[in-house]
Amino acid sequence: MPKTTILDIYKKKAEGKKITMLTAYDYPFAQIVDQAGIDMILVGDSLGNVVQGVANTLPVTMDEMIYHTKMVSRAVQSGMVVGDMPFLSYQTGSRDAILNAGRFLKEAGADCVKLEGGSQMAPVIRAIVDAGIPVVAHIGLTPQYIHMLGGFKVQGKDEAAREKLLADAHAVQDAGAFSVVIEAVPASLGKEITAALRIPTIGIGAGPDCDGQVLVIHDLLGLFDRFTPKFVKRYANLKEQALSAVQQYKKEVESEAFPGPEHSFK
Ligand code: KIV
Repeated sequence: MPKTTILDIYKKKAEGKKITMLTAYDYPFAQIVDQAGIDMILVGDSLGNVVQGVANTLPVTMDEMIYHTKMVSRAVQSGMVVGDMPFLSYQTGSRDAILNAGRFLKEAGADCVKLEGGSQMAPVIRAIVDAGIPVVAHIGLTPQYIHMLGGFKVQGKDEAAREKLLADAHAVQDAGAFSVVIEAVPASLGKEITAALRIPTIGIGAGPDCDGQVLVIHDLLGLFDRFTPKFVKRYANLKEQALSAVQQYKKEVESEAFPGPEHSFK
């Protein structure tokens, strides 16, 4: 399978074919996601929530993102690996942003980076793109702005907020982003932004009309149950299955049913 490039992502929008994106944070999950043929594999800073067990994504560091992105890149043969820029790795100016985005490609094998923010991040997006690093923008509910947004709330609900998000979408496109994640907005706004842009939109809680969809793999597989946003669909219940496997192991060790002769050396 050849590696997915930004041209393949553009082509999918042009042909009206849906783009698939999922997160992965380590080798085994990245292998599963890649073998399933997912187009874009996001090493999201959501790993703060679902892997590290912290309350939000703010504590996640560049070094941690590089560590996880390396594991993912080693597993991926065909998907496009997207390194998610953590809080304060790009908000401090274009020079920091280029250097940190560059680390994802130089050290960790990512194919592009993602960062949060609309119009206010346009100069930073332009600088990273000018350095030869493709950028996925992220607008709507942007978890790194959680304290400004006052919580994990649906964005773009009134007319002024809709217009601001539409302006943000145009600003990140004009700055050179090759696609944009739109999180937690009314479906009608996801549709409007998608129709207005040349670049593909990838929705998470932005309705069915975006050019693609993204979910956090731990949500999709039922591995994370601390909170489940409305936009998540659970396709499996792996936490329950894993718990019951571990309980069974405990029982068998205690009752001496494991290890059996087939697990022992002569
Ligand atoms: O960090 C992440 O996983 C994300 C997705 C939810 C889009 O930003």
